[in-house]
Amino acid sequence: MCGIVGYIGKDNAKDIIIDGLKKLEYRGYDSAGIAIVRDGKLEIKKHVGGIANLENLIGDDPMTSHIGIGHTRWATHGAPSDLNAHPHGSQDGKIAIIHNGIIENYHELKEELIREHNIKFKSETDSEVIAQLIGVIYQEKKDLLESVFAAVDRMRGAYAIVAIAEDEPDKIVAVRKDAPLIVGLGKGSNFVASDIPALLKYVKEIYLIENNETVLLTSEKVTIFDENREEINREVFHVTWDADAAEKEGYEHFMLKEIYEQPKGLSETLNRRLDENGKINLEGITLTKAEIEKFSKIYIVACGTAYHAGLVGKYIIEKLVRVPVEVDVASEFRYRDPLVDENTLFIAISQSGETLDTLAALREAKSKGARVLSVVNVVGSSVARESDDVFYTWAGPEIAVASTKAYTTQLMCMYMLALYMGLEKGTIDRDYYDQFIRDLQKMPEKLEEFLKKASQIEDEAKQLYNREQVFFIGRGLDSAVSYEGSLKLKEISYINSFAIAAGELKHGTIALMEPGTLVIALACQDFLYEKMVSNIQEIKARGAYVMAIAKDGNESIAKHSDKMIYIPECRDEITPLISVVPLQLFAYYVAKERGCNIDKPKNLAKSVTVE
Ligand code: M6R
Repeated sequence: MCGIVGYIGKDNAKDIIIDGLKKLEYRGYDSAGIAIVRDGKLEIKKHVGGIANLENLIGDDPMTSHIGIGHTRWATHGAPSDLNAHPHGSQDGKIAIIHNGIIENYHELKEELIREHNIKFKSETDSEVIAQLIGVIYQEKKDLLESVFAAVDRMRGAYAIVAIAEDEPDKIVAVRKDAPLIVGLGKGSNFVASDIPALLKYVKEIYLIENNETVLLTSEKVTIFDENREEINREVFHVTWDADAAEKEGYEHFMLKEIYEQPKGLSETLNRRLDENGKINLEGITLTKAEIEKFSKIYIVACGTAYHAGLVGKYIIEKLVRVPVEVDVASEFRYRDPLVDENTLFIAISQSGETLDTLAALREAKSKGARVLSVVNVVGSSVARESDDVFYTWAGPEIAVASTKAYTTQLMCMYMLALYMGLEKGTIDRDYYDQFIRDLQKMPEKLEEFLKKASQIEDEAKQLYNREQVFFIGRGLDSAVSYEGSLKLKEISYINSFAIAAGELKHGTIALMEPGTLVIALACQDFLYEKMVSNIQEIKARGAYVMAIAKDGNESIAKHSDKMIYIPECRDEITPLISVVPLQLFAYYVAKERGCNIDKPKNLAKSVTVE
């Protein structure tokens, strides 16, 4: 996920592009760059870090030009660096492109460009392949539009690409396939961008570009071509939102937007590593069968929400790989002289990859000889760089402090790792594996369906938002999810919430149950369902008010509960992918009713880089 902006017109392109990129930093912020044509020469300036770093690099240079393209990056292929930043240029310096998405066949195109055209690549990105390919074609065709058409015919993947050419400084060409692209219509100026917020200050009239369409922009005219390269007409879309609403794509808060992005995050995280036979492809991870068999112990270490993903990871890895797994919070692990040796696999989980406690625990484990694998969302982050292997989540940038889509994509990685290791080690057979993968593949759609019930959860939140304390209970995997539900509620609504394994209640905590005490009870594990019903009866007998979460079809629990939320039927092991979502939504709507600052809760930061 990256942000892209292009401009052609009577004003200075650089100022408009930098301004637009700042509005898109929520799409990615690990490096940024700009390309213009000044006095007949194509110039590219780019820098690792946010837009501020790019502005420092540009300094007082006005970069006077009426045409330009700019990019803010969220790394996928290649760590954040000056060289991997966009725009990318062709070898002869005549073409510059920016790209959002993935070129699936970049490897074969790259080999061909090296072999047949002696291209020397400067970056590790798939995107540079686009610049070089267009550059080679352009040498023959001498026409940017025709060259982009020809290049796109060779590419597979998902992309929004914007290209300019030194020898045609009067045009921009953009193309879209499965990545957002819009065109802004000005007077004597036209714009292209990945998202509306980049352009709102300048235009309110937009063309929404569809898949497989190509756009040719001059300062006076915008022409759209369909997949057969025929010119087509497009209705103008009049934007009525303000800039803030547009960044959130119409959602009131980033947290809600990110909750709704979970089906996409799950599907990306799963499908990017599945081959056509349903086999998990751990490209970039060098764990061999012999190494997997050698591990006598696995540690999963993380903080906060990522730690809660680790609790699910322990359950599933122990079940499928039959090796003991210990889960620890990073700030504890590093100070307790843990039993780590060269037969230990250490798994660090971190959305940001910059959490100091997690990083320090990782270093501690590494120094004792452990093999370090991390599950990270931010490409090229410190945790990723210091690990032997990285399993990236494909959540995209998470802006809200309360983690939602990072958690569910971390869970997906846990399932995939467990399945991969289990199959390699022979602790699960191919039939079990195939069925599990098929079940995982159904989850994005099931979650999409479940999200349609959000209004029911909003109604419950409106009635329950003023409770002073809330308990979350569950057994097995439901207990792991309870911890995450409780954290979500306390961090954004400031309600004192507490999670406990349901079977443990009677050993002390049940003393706190009084008439009206709100208990959120997860009963999504079929094999523990009857036990959960008994635990609910115990607290109902003390007057608790119970909101239960169960799978569709398990209706008998309704008799013992005050409120019910049903999640779609799915195998027990993967219910956390959905059962956490009503808890996220409940926390969100309760915090909203209480008037809290949802995306930036008090006392918290998105990335905790202190001890
Ligand atoms: O970036 P990380 O995943 O390493 O962050 C760890 C925790 O700080 C984080 O999960 C925190 O608990 C969440 N913001 C809670 O929603």
